[in-house]
Amino acid sequence: MAIKKIGIVGAGTMGSGIAQVAATAGFDVFLQDISQDQLDRAVHVIGKSLDKLIEKGKVSEAKDTILSRIKMTKDLTVLKESDLIIEAVFENVDVKKQVLQALDNLLPSEVIFTTNTSSISITKLAAFTSRPDRFMGLHFMNPVPLMTLVELIKGLQTSSETFVQVKELAEKMGKVPVEANDFPGFISNRILMPMINEAIFALMEGVGTVEAIDTVMKLGMNHPMGPLALADLIGLDVCLNIMEVLYEGFRDPKYRPCPLLRKMVEAGYLGRKSGRGFYKYS
Ligand SMILES: NC(=O)c1ccc[n+]([C@@H]2O[C@H](COP(=O)([O-])OP(=O)(O)OC[C@H]3O[C@@H](n4cnc5c(N)ncnc54)[C@H](O)[C@@H]3O)[C@@H](O)[C@H]2O)c1
Repeated sequence: MAIKKIGIVGAGTMGSGIAQVAATAGFDVFLQDISQDQLDRAVHVIGKSLDKLIEKGKVSEAKDTILSRIKMTKDLTVLKESDLIIEAVFENVDVKKQVLQALDNLLPSEVIFTTNTSSISITKLAAFTSRPDRFMGLHFMNPVPLMTLVELIKGLQTSSETFVQVKELAEKMGKVPVEANDFPGFISNRILMPMINEAIFALMEGVGTVEAIDTVMKLGMNHPMGPLALADLIGLDVCLNIMEVLYEGFRDPKYRPCPLLRKMVEAGYLGRKSGRGFYKYS
């Protein structure tokens, strides 16, 4: 089936970025969220990002033309016309289960479902639907309009046809797909998150200040961003959820989430999206 219309569930950091990239690539997009505030925020964020990309000459089409391809909605049933689904709701199994089951009841069985999960088992999420052969991981990186990588993750039952179609879609969206196997955190977060978590331990134990830790990793290791600034960009709640999945998935204490990370999330310091994380944002 030719993919023309993409249904995206969750209009947060990732869903809005994926919608922008899909619409820029010419796809019609339905972007659904339960929160009107998040949909309003998505319109604003996508508009600002397109302005910058157009100014830099990286996007040639008019902003309004691209925006006209995105239909924002709170109503999940609008997504029933989608040719493919990308799920990008909270990194929480119960929330994802509820959304995937609702979509499964709504959409014809030939429609492929993908999930942008950072760490949860694809096989487990696929099993919530009646189409585990047409289900796989399509893991974009943040910020989606700027990062070229996507991880493609097959579940135990994902068919080769599904894999080929999703790989082609990722390429049409201008991304470079890399295949990872279905283990907690896949490749990217298996390596990245323990590093961020360790940076938070170093801060908690007083090994260095926020600035010192980030400067060491930037100037000493040539990372474009320090791990604490990166955690703020990703979202501290997202980081905590991923560490929990790694810890649960491997039952290895090396993946235990840092208590300071947990405290920050409890305090509502979620990083850039809440205005405060390891740094303050106005
Ligand atoms: N933030 C990152 O850097 C990053 C990178 C790659 C992948 N991911 C993954 O992408 C997914 C989304 O992460 P995010 O950072 O965009 O989170 P986010 O908190 O910014 O956005 C999640 C959105 O889901 C919406 N939502 C919650 N329940 C819903 C429901 N039942 N129906 C519809 N919408 C619902 C929320 O209102 C919110 O707008 C997660 O699985 C996360 O692990 C995140």
